Amino acid sequence: MKVGIEAIAFHCPEHYIELADLAKARGVDPDKYTKGLGQVRMAVATPMEDTVTLAVNAALKALENFDIDPKDIGTLVVGTESGVDHSKPVAVYVHEALGLRSNCQTYETKHACFGAMAAVSSAQDWISCGRARGSKALIVASDIARYGVGDPGEPTQGAGAVAMVISDTPNLLYFDSEISGYYTKHVMDFWRPLYSKTAFVDGPYSIDCYLNALDGALADALAKATIPALYKLDQLQACIYHVPFAKMAAKAHHRHFEIDAGEKIDKESERCADVRKSFAQKTGPWLSLNAVVGNIYTGSVFLSLIDLLRSNTSANLRQISMFSYGSGCAASMNIAYPTPGFERFKDQINPEPALTARRKLSIDEYDNIMKISDSLGTGNTEAFSAGDWDLTGDFLYLGNKDHIRRYSGL
Ligand code: CAA
Repeated sequence: MKVGIEAIAFHCPEHYIELADLAKARGVDPDKYTKGLGQVRMAVATPMEDTVTLAVNAALKALENFDIDPKDIGTLVVGTESGVDHSKPVAVYVHEALGLRSNCQTYETKHACFGAMAAVSSAQDWISCGRARGSKALIVASDIARYGVGDPGEPTQGAGAVAMVISDTPNLLYFDSEISGYYTKHVMDFWRPLYSKTAFVDGPYSIDCYLNALDGALADALAKATIPALYKLDQLQACIYHVPFAKMAAKAHHRHFEIDAGEKIDKESERCADVRKSFAQKTGPWLSLNAVVGNIYTGSVFLSLIDLLRSNTSANLRQISMFSYGSGCAASMNIAYPTPGFERFKDQINPEPALTARRKLSIDEYDNIMKISDSLGTGNTEAFSAGDWDLTGDFLYLGNKDHIRRYSGL
């Protein structure tokens, strides 16, 4: 049985800032953000948007664009590290907003940015073992990434949600059921204690932890493969990674190349030209959405996947790798196969029109939104209406702290 992604959709807040503007306001050389980190724009969520509304909007698009009946959803999982409650899962709000059936198993998963990939993996198992009995799983990755204002992490914020329907009729891509490598280690690279609205992070250490996890997950995947040569880089047309910022995917691909080649490759050496060529073919082209959205934590790896699928045809894409990393830390390396003919869904999955329609904020407006979000907390929006934030009304926003309303109905 082939199990994988039948539908996928991305939802992004309607506002963004230019990172060059942020750099100027913070007294930093803009090249550091745009070239050094590889980020151009950053999505900004208003106080009317939270991980619930982002998740609902993404899920609605996934179901509607692929004509999937909500009654067919038998499992709903939201992976998030920026949920709205320590007890009540984002998923149960999504369940109500979508009108899903009551015998749908519904829960939230958390392991930093790994939460949604963990849920995708569980959904595969649920379907493959027969317990789904013809039903499909809806998995949503929804997050708002927040570091402190002026913090080195600030240019690596972002917000958005990716929703996927996992089933045994995978229109877009199916996973290798035999090969998946895992890695777990307790590290304090990035965390957000219950009392804090912003993440704590040891930036350089988090990069080391990410790369160590890539070593571990890839080694585990290859050790499980009957014929490891089938998963060598030259057999993969694309390598997708977790993307906290675009340059991190370049660092990850460099490490992947080194493991594959069995040699350490210095950045200044001539051999590094081969690494750059490989990156330009297998990873670089699928980072353009991440570069204008920012880090969406659990959804980042899937946003890069959307970029890959919207830009390709099945004639040139047979086998890809997907690496997911969650700080703290946990990681997985998966092999997946784009379904022949997936390109007929390109228009449905392409988020470009919505991204182009976004409104640019000045840094003063952005600073104000951060201040209000910090003082009130997302979800506590009694003082606002969607009109205060120029929201279009095409999607769902917070009507008050417990309910989601259509803007037009406010
Ligand atoms: N022109 C061009 N490039 C410049 C430059 C300039 N003027 N100034 C600096 N740069 C380059 C640097 O050389 C560096 O490039 P390399 O990494 O290739 O050497 C890059 O810009 C960044 O510069 P710094 O390392 O000096 O940046 P920093 O210390 O201010 O912070 C960061 C960078 C650590 C990523 C920080 O943004 C951060 O902490 N982000 C959050 C944590 C994070 O995303 N970690 C990633 C791994 S953990 C993970 O993946 C989980 C998750 O989602 C959070």
